[in-house]
Amino acid sequence: MSNAFTVHLVTWCDGEPLLRAIREKVFIQEQQVPVELEWDGLDAGCEHVLALAASGNAIGCGRITPDGHIGRIAVLPEWRRQQVGSSILELLVDYARGRHYPKVELNAQVQAMPLYEKAGFHAEGEVFLDANIPHRKMLLLLKDRSPSSQ
Ligand SMILES: CC(C)(COP(=O)(O)OP(=O)(O)OC[C@H]1O[C@@H](n2cnc3c(N)ncnc32)[C@H](O)[C@@H]1OP(=O)(O)O)[C@@H](O)C(=O)NCCC(=O)NCCS
Repeated sequence: MSNAFTVHLVTWCDGEPLLRAIREKVFIQEQQVPVELEWDGLDAGCEHVLALAASGNAIGCGRITPDGHIGRIAVLPEWRRQQVGSSILELLVDYARGRHYPKVELNAQVQAMPLYEKAGFHAEGEVFLDANIPHRKMLLLLKDRSPSSQ
């Protein structure tokens, strides 16, 4: 199997069926996240990232809210530990930088924290439960690289 993949920014309007299929498999079926928590009504207002295999199959996703909260990063099990999650995260952070967001935040599942630490995020506060899964708030400050800020 080729492990080539690409990552793309998509709107909910354009990507909904593929984004839904990944989140159903990973969050609802694998991690037993309750349906009503997964579909929280924020998706239409978010920017999304979709990862596609060379075959065209959707293999991963993520989203960012208009106020800079990254979330719903998921990669299908057979594609994990091949940098798909990091590539999704990188594109979401690039999107936030492009929009001059001062920071991005997320609630990381504790088991996934190394993914975010590698991208420069740092943890804040105590561990808490969301959908019965331990989480910790993480934050990345973004420097504005526009000429006017130098
Ligand atoms: C977490 C998840 C998105 C990571 O995706 P991925 O494509 O496997 O991540 P990457 O291959 O880009 O990993 C990059 C680095 O993050 C760290 N990392 C990723 N998954 C990890 C895990 N399960 N445990 C510990 N470290 C992990 C590693 O340092 C890894 O680098 P390495 O493989 O060179 O050691 C994926 O495992 C997943 O979908 N899990 C289920 C859903 C979930 O937990 N989502 C996160 C919600 S906060």
